[in-house]
Amino acid sequence: AEGLPLINKKVLITAGPTYEAIDPVRFIGNHSSGKMGFELAAAANAAGAKVILVSGPTHLANPHENIELVRVQSALEMFDAATKFFPEVDIAIAAAAVSDYRPKVSAMQKIKKNSEIMQLELVKNPDILATLGEAKKDQLLIGFALETENEEENAAGKLKKKNLDFIVLNSLNDSGAGFKSETNKIKILFKDGNVKTFDLKSKKEVAEDILNEIILLSNE
Ligand code: PMT
Repeated sequence: AEGLPLINKKVLITAGPTYEAIDPVRFIGNHSSGKMGFELAAAANAAGAKVILVSGPTHLANPHENIELVRVQSALEMFDAATKFFPEVDIAIAAAAVSDYRPKVSAMQKIKKNSEIMQLELVKNPDILATLGEAKKDQLLIGFALETENEEENAAGKLKKKNLDFIVLNSLNDSGAGFKSETNKIKILFKDGNVKTFDLKSKKEVAEDILNEIILLSNE
C-alpha cells in the first residue's frame, strides 16, 4: 500500500440520482445511473484512499469491499450524509445529480386520479455542494456541472459560487457524454482559470483522469 498516491487520505463521493417522493409509489428523479460516481470511488480506492460513497438509488453494486457505501433516497438524506462525513475527509467529489426541488408534501397514500388537472407544489432542496463549499477548511472540493447550453460560462459560475477547487463539465450536447452512457467527455475548469479538455473515454478512464488532477493538487 505504501507509495500509493492517496494513501492516508479520506475521500467523500456523492453519486447517482435522488428520488423525491410524491406519494408511496411515485417520485421525481433523473437519468443518473450512478456510474460516474462509482467509477470515481473505485479509482480513489485503487489510489489508496479510504472512500465513503454516498449514493442515491442505483442498481450498481459496491465496487470494492473497502469502500463504505451509504445508500440514500432523497436530496435531504444525501445532504445529511454528506454534511456529516465532510468534516472528516480530505477530498470531496460531488458527482450526484441532485434534484433541485422536492414535492412540498409527500402524500401518505397513493394519489387517486380523480381530477383532470393535478398541481404539484415543489420546494427547493438545499444545495449540498454549496453547503460543503461554505464549510470547507483545507479540503479539496470538486464538483460536476451537467449543462445543455452556455456550458463553460455556467460551469465557471458554479465553480466560483460553490467555492470549488475545480469543476468537471460534461455537456449533453456531446454524444456519449453525461448520463445514459458508459462513456463521458469532460472539460475541467480550475479555480485559477485554467481549462483542460479531455477526449471521449470510458467512465473508468474519465474517473482516473479526474483522480490524477486531484493527486496533482493534493501534492502542491
Ligand atoms: O450517474 P451517471 O449516469 O454516470 O451520470 C453522470 C452524471 C452526468 C450524473 C455526472 O457526470 C454529473 O454531471 N453529475 C452532476 C449532475 C448535476 O446535477 O449537475 P448540476 O450542474 O445540476 O450540479 C452542479 C453540482 O452541484 C454537482 O456537483 C451536483 O452534485 C451539485 N449539487 C447540485 C444540486 C444540489 N441540490 N446539491 C448538489 O450538491
